[in-house]
Amino acid sequence: MKEIMNRILKKEPVFYKNPAALDDPSGYLGKLDIGFDDIVDAEQRLGRFAPLVSMLFPETKDGIIESPFIKADNFREKVYPGMKGGLYFKLDSHLEVAGSIKARGGIYEVLKVTEDILIRNNLLDYNDDYSVIAGDSIRKFLSGFTVSVASTGNLGLSIGIMAAKLGYNSRVHMSRDAKQWKKDRLTAGGVTMVEHDGDFTYAAAMGRREAGTGNNIHFVDDERSCNLFLGYAVSALRIKGDLKKHGIEPTREKPLVLYLPCGVGGAPGGIAFGFKHAFGERVKCYLAEPVSSPSMLLGVMTGRFGQLNVNDYGLDNKTELDGLAVASPSDFVSPMMEFLCDGFFTVRDEKMFEYLYLLKETEGIGIEPSAAAGIPGPGITGLWDRDVFHIVWTTGGLFVPGDIYDKMYFRGKRAYEDSRD
Ligand SMILES: Cc1ncc(COP(=O)(O)O)c(C=O)c1O
Repeated sequence: MKEIMNRILKKEPVFYKNPAALDDPSGYLGKLDIGFDDIVDAEQRLGRFAPLVSMLFPETKDGIIESPFIKADNFREKVYPGMKGGLYFKLDSHLEVAGSIKARGGIYEVLKVTEDILIRNNLLDYNDDYSVIAGDSIRKFLSGFTVSVASTGNLGLSIGIMAAKLGYNSRVHMSRDAKQWKKDRLTAGGVTMVEHDGDFTYAAAMGRREAGTGNNIHFVDDERSCNLFLGYAVSALRIKGDLKKHGIEPTREKPLVLYLPCGVGGAPGGIAFGFKHAFGERVKCYLAEPVSSPSMLLGVMTGRFGQLNVNDYGLDNKTELDGLAVASPSDFVSPMMEFLCDGFFTVRDEKMFEYLYLLKETEGIGIEPSAAAGIPGPGITGLWDRDVFHIVWTTGGLFVPGDIYDKMYFRGKRAYEDSRD
């Protein structure tokens, strides 16, 4: 423990195998306030909204926002020669509407809130065709409400765009880490942006404070929201079709192994929660953070959970992996990760640019740097030579503008070539 702490403080990449992780999580999961039925309920709600989503975003497939799942043989050969077990990528980087994993939780929460408001006001019935929500009268009604959120960029994109599209007054409190192109995209989508010269924890505190002073304002609280969490968890039900298509039948001996980029923890935590429910002992989950922001790792390792701030350990939370620039983990999610997460690892920024480049070269897939954090997982956990189903979750990138992507690509190419010299 002391040795690993020294390495964390020196910003060296580490792997921490979680000693409290449960092989069989069923007893623990059974004691939580939320359970499998809530994930099914969320999935059904997304189904009710599909006609509306399809109308508002015709680029989605029948109004269901879901990502591709691929077997990455070329990448495997290049990066992990000799690897045992198949290497797969779950491309949440390519989720429509928001272009990141945040499309799962963020959009789910906006839809859930909308259903609650409309049913409460007798403007909707569960049996209605939800495309009525796009009609003028409901849009006008929703314009009397505000949906707000704090974000490092991607959650803002998902919630901001969906809320504005439904007619809400949509506000995003941006941390200083957010990239300019994400802010520009939001402004173009009719979202009001409040820029903060502080980190995500600060922006979240400001958003929460503002919401506390107003009426008809719903603040999506990334540090505490159960709705966001359930939206991510639905992925565990949806993946069953992907697994079937690829002939993947996980067992206790040959499990699914997920490598998930982690910021505040809602997205990877919700996915881990969903998968532990759906696959029990047949899945292992590993969370990835930048070396300068290992807030979930430290929060769980020290037992301080959401009270922890990496700044207290002399770490600056400055990283080019903008989506993962979070100094304090979610207080709601981190205590669950003590039992549901099998391990944590940290990654260096520069290496992520190399992976961004290599993924394009080998598989033709474009991602943003944060989205690459899971890629070193099989190596750093030492599982690369185990015959398991390695599933790397890439989490953002679809909407990165071409010129910005090219710069990152060439940066990665240079870094890769230099590392070969
Ligand atoms: C690209 C990307 N990956 C992963 C994450 C991590 O999600 P969370 O903050 O819920 O842990 C984020 C968060 O914004 C992100 O933008």
